[in-house]
Amino acid sequence: MAYYRINGGKRLEGAVTISGAKNAALAIIPAVILSGESCLLENLPEIEDVRIVEEILTSMGADISRTPDGSMRIDPSGISTFSVTGEMVSSMRASYYLLGALLGRYKKAEIALPGGCAIGQRPIDQHIKGMRALGADIVIQGGAVKARADRLRGAEIYLDVVSVGATINIMLAAVAAEGQTIIANAAKEPHVVDVANFLNMMGANVKGAGTDVIRMQGGRRLHGCTYAVIPDQIEAGTFMIAAAATRGDVIINNVIPTHLEAISAKLMECGVTVTEGDDGRDFFIRVSADKRPRAVNIKTLPYPGFPTDLQQPMMALLATAEGNSFIMENIFENRFNHVPELAKMGASISISSRTATVEGVEKLYGAPLCASDLRAGAALVIAALAAEGESTISQIHFIDRGYEFLEQKLRALGADIMRIEE
Ligand code: EPZ
Repeated sequence: MAYYRINGGKRLEGAVTISGAKNAALAIIPAVILSGESCLLENLPEIEDVRIVEEILTSMGADISRTPDGSMRIDPSGISTFSVTGEMVSSMRASYYLLGALLGRYKKAEIALPGGCAIGQRPIDQHIKGMRALGADIVIQGGAVKARADRLRGAEIYLDVVSVGATINIMLAAVAAEGQTIIANAAKEPHVVDVANFLNMMGANVKGAGTDVIRMQGGRRLHGCTYAVIPDQIEAGTFMIAAAATRGDVIINNVIPTHLEAISAKLMECGVTVTEGDDGRDFFIRVSADKRPRAVNIKTLPYPGFPTDLQQPMMALLATAEGNSFIMENIFENRFNHVPELAKMGASISISSRTATVEGVEKLYGAPLCASDLRAGAALVIAALAAEGESTISQIHFIDRGYEFLEQKLRALGADIMRIEE
């Protein structure tokens, strides 16, 4: 197992380029199955979860190769199995997208139930509700979701919960449903729009992605295409927060500023300087700070609200803010596992139900830390970079799931971070 050793107190300075969006890639790769033809996917992040999805599709019979620039060519025509179970699948939440893709293409699927993880139960009842509305018979047996359909017909589906996964998964199946499908109370995240754009590039007819109501005309024949996934707004937000926490000055390249409005606004509320610009090719955001942040309050909400995935990194910044911050986690019921680890560094944080009260302290001090999930790990890296002294962070395989070349990117910004293979 690997761990990080970080010597804190170094200002992050310089420029970093953001990689492709994890949560777009994990949906678009399985979506290739819907066309039955070869697709070339560009700007995919080199992260563990992408490697797992690639391995799953290959095990199902897809032919996957990489071009010299790292793009992924997927030919799904050789897929011969529609039952995907086992550890690899249940260990990765996004494997549920195989349900929508296989049902849409082959009218049958058997997928291991996705694991909940440290942040909550993470049920898939809304996914199942949508698939049933489209005409699929679905049973849960032996730890797997089994779906079959003679035909898929368009339906009007109202999501009880704004769910990114359910919105995307239903889109994937609805592409093959004859007639019109309406998904109401849909998630509006940038990666939902990215998946819709990819489906349309393959010849689908998806309108309204990015709004509460998505309308689709299904039953069209899809073809292969070339597609580049959007930049990862959560990775970008993580670097913005790290720049602020280390009182640094960082230019974050290859971003879409509108995707970052909630985090930019919150950082400016803290007294951090955030400016946007473009270098003629890409947009960038510049983040600089030279003093302790002001305390602020945060409520995580579906997009365009403050993203739950940046709640944990933001808490690492607010741990040394001037004043008390109140952070309400409205999306997941157990997303405070990083709090005891921050407390080891001297943070003063109390939790009552879904609200954390962060009493800002002057400084954090390095400590031996343990990551419990992906974004908790990111929060600990930020805290360790800002703290005085040395920290170690174990269980960093969680971080590898969602951040491409994290230690290399941070070292290029002046961080003293080493990855140690035990
Ligand atoms: C996606 O998870 C992301 N994962 C998460 O990112 C992200 O935090 C989340 O969306 C919210 O933005 C991927 O895209 C792979 P949801 P997902 O369905 O789809 C409840 C990261 O760090 N719900 O929008 O699982 C659910 O319990 C990860 O990159 C139901 O009740 O999230 C939660 O409370 C963490 N029934 C809320 O909805 C359902 O059928 C939002 O979940 C589905 C969800």
